[in-house]
Amino acid sequence: MAIAEGRVALVTGAGQGIGRAIALALAGEGADVAVTDVNPSGAEEAAAAVAAAGRKSWALTGDVSDFGAAREMTEKVLQDSGRIDILVNNAGITRDGLLMRMKEQDWDSVLAVNLKGGFNFCRAVVPGMVKRRWGRIINMSSVVGVMGNAGQVNYAASKAGLIGLTKSLAREVAVRGVTVNAVAPGFIDTAMTQALPEKVRMALQQQIPAGKLGQVEDVVAATLFLASPGAGYITGQVLHVNGGMYT
Ligand SMILES: NC(=O)c1ccc[n+]([C@@H]2O[C@H](COP(=O)([O-])OP(=O)(O)OC[C@H]3O[C@@H](n4cnc5c(N)ncnc54)[C@H](O)[C@@H]3O)[C@@H](O)[C@H]2O)c1
Repeated sequence: MAIAEGRVALVTGAGQGIGRAIALALAGEGADVAVTDVNPSGAEEAAAAVAAAGRKSWALTGDVSDFGAAREMTEKVLQDSGRIDILVNNAGITRDGLLMRMKEQDWDSVLAVNLKGGFNFCRAVVPGMVKRRWGRIINMSSVVGVMGNAGQVNYAASKAGLIGLTKSLAREVAVRGVTVNAVAPGFIDTAMTQALPEKVRMALQQQIPAGKLGQVEDVVAATLFLASPGAGYITGQVLHVNGGMYT
């Protein structure tokens, strides 16, 4: 049986990249999927792809860092379907630079999107999950959140913060049948890493025991597993998907 049959899922930052692939994979596993993104055309296109897979879809545009907007987006889905069973907090940005040159705005925006965005959607969705005594929350962290990375103090802090949120919320809601886990991808071949200079990409590759960057499908598989009924006794964990880069 499909692992998300009859479920309703909401994926943030699903207009492209990893989030889009997760949204489509959940639809393939039988879920209706709300696609949210700050980019309206990305959200529309991904929602159309979910609909083409035969599932109900929502294209919701808004900034995850806006508490009110997160609430509005979830309300729309809750009004239509009565529930959100699976939440994937995937939206994320980078504003890289060495601390000595980092602007206040670069710190604030990365923390607002990557960390507060996760809080905003958990805050909007958890009460319903607790009431229905079933839920799966997956927060997209990063290997950088556990290892650190020069030039990414803001990003690493936001992704480490998401792990703290994950572990704490997991303890709050475990007794209500809601699991909260994080996926920590290493370096995955997406727009985010394609933006890096070739020299940096080559240097990164040398740090990966598997000898190659990960694929979006590797992150999708880990996320689907944590969303599945079989992962019901797994909570507060960080699932690393990094080719052995951090063990
Ligand atoms: N690509 C990697 O190597 C890698 C590694 C580790 C973790 N991650 C994490 O995985 C997630 C997805 O990464 P990706 O590579 O697919 O990135 P991406 O840049 O391709 O996609 C991110 C999506 O989030 C959306 N978004 C950005 N800011 C937003 C906001 N304020 N509100 C709503 N949506 C917003 C973007 O429009 C985009 O569609 C991110 O959280 C990223 O930090 C990626």
